[in-house]
Amino acid sequence: MSVATLDGRTVRVALLGCGTVGSEVTRMLIDDADELAARVGAPVELAGIAVRRPDKHPELPQHLLTADAGKLVESDVDVVVELIGGIEPVRGWLLTALRKGKSVVTGNKALLSEYAAELAEAADTSGADLYYEASVAGAIPLLRPLRESLAGDRITRVMGIVNGTTNFILSAMDSTGAGYAETLDEATRLGYAEADPTADVDGYDAASKAAILASLAFHSRVTASDVHREGIAGISASDIGAAKLLNRTVKLLAICERVTADDGTESVSARVHPVMIPRSHQLAGVGGAFNAVYVEAEAAGELMFYGQGAGGAPTASAVLGDLVAAARNRVAGGRGPRESAHAALPVRPMGQTPTRYHISLDVADKPGVLAQVAQVFAVHGVSIAAVRQRDRLSTASLVIVTHLAPDAALQATVEEISKLDVVREVVSVMRVEGEDS
Ligand SMILES: NC(=O)c1ccc[n+]([C@@H]2O[C@H](COP(=O)([O-])OP(=O)(O)OC[C@H]3O[C@@H](n4cnc5c(N)ncnc54)[C@H](OP(=O)(O)O)[C@@H]3O)[C@@H](O)[C@H]2O)c1
Repeated sequence: MSVATLDGRTVRVALLGCGTVGSEVTRMLIDDADELAARVGAPVELAGIAVRRPDKHPELPQHLLTADAGKLVESDVDVVVELIGGIEPVRGWLLTALRKGKSVVTGNKALLSEYAAELAEAADTSGADLYYEASVAGAIPLLRPLRESLAGDRITRVMGIVNGTTNFILSAMDSTGAGYAETLDEATRLGYAEADPTADVDGYDAASKAAILASLAFHSRVTASDVHREGIAGISASDIGAAKLLNRTVKLLAICERVTADDGTESVSARVHPVMIPRSHQLAGVGGAFNAVYVEAEAAGELMFYGQGAGGAPTASAVLGDLVAAARNRVAGGRGPRESAHAALPVRPMGQTPTRYHISLDVADKPGVLAQVAQVFAVHGVSIAAVRQRDRLSTASLVIVTHLAPDAALQATVEEISKLDVVREVVSVMRVEGEDS
């Protein structure tokens, strides 16, 4: 099926939600109307704006406002731009829009990371466009490069900082040496963290984005619930200190990889957790609320995408980009490239995913300790890449960095080590990425 052509009329847009991002989209649609019309090849008309409380929006054109988003979706519009957020009732509205052949532009990572398959199927059936560039890494053009520019290459890895709140907190802990709770309070006071920071600090937001990135990069369906998730609430000042001693820093990373087993079968690993990376790594220098994503592809090599990962105007830029693309397709009478999930790679459980650990221990200062600890690594088949030892009165500190091993083997190693009589305390355990320079 193909969507109705415009027959020379304007592209009519329904905007659902006019908060932080929607208000900037409205401003750009009104202020840049002539420019947008020239780029699209037809005028782009804002046909209606749905908000929860129309009486709270005296700044908006009153004749466009409605509290009935469902009715606006059903009206005579060509493109629905959704900037409300959450799953229901938005999912129902967007399915209705797509089934009726109306293109959808959204920044809703929570919805896309669980229901992309259902929405894409509705779009494919009616021939409408489904675009969601703003759902990952705000202003940064990332999903279109994955979906279009790199469509002929083979992506092996997508790894990045996709949550500004946690990046702000970890950057601040690194520069001040302060603890997690104290730094979170400061982030909340400065407006970098929400009053309820759970979605950010527990890694839910980053896991949704990892699911979207993995799905596009590996042509497979990965949902947020498939993504292994650990947040930053357990990161202590001593973890940050341990990283500093190794000339490393701690970042919350979303890591999506194509993993090839010994028998040649492929799977996808998608995870979000804190990682120690060398200070010389490109991602180490990404501070504050910025986002950066590093992509590796077989032919292209290494690519890095960097910019503002949130905020009204930056995110509106990504929304407008999608809106112009959808509107151009209307004018041309077609649709953009469809998504493909043809590879259907399975998601590899975290326990089988190869990772590397940094382990910092306080141990008894007596002979034979290192041999006992090394024996536990050997039993679990984990090989040690580097060991550092320092003496402090009656205890010594032992820092071990491993080679790659299945995550479950590393977890089991740490558990057994913590029970050794010679180990007084496991000071810090964290996964590491990147080679030391
Ligand atoms: N903020 C960012 O930096 C950012 C970045 C990337 C992606 N996003 C995504 O963009 C979306 C919007 O985020 P935001 O920060 O702009 O949200 P927001 O400031 O909370 O705005 C939400 C808007 O939705 C409206 N709304 C809520 N329930 C509604 C309902 N039942 N019917 C009609 N309208 C309803 C609200 O109306 P009232 O104004 O009347 O309350 C408000 O205008 C989310 O999916 C978010 O994840 C945001």
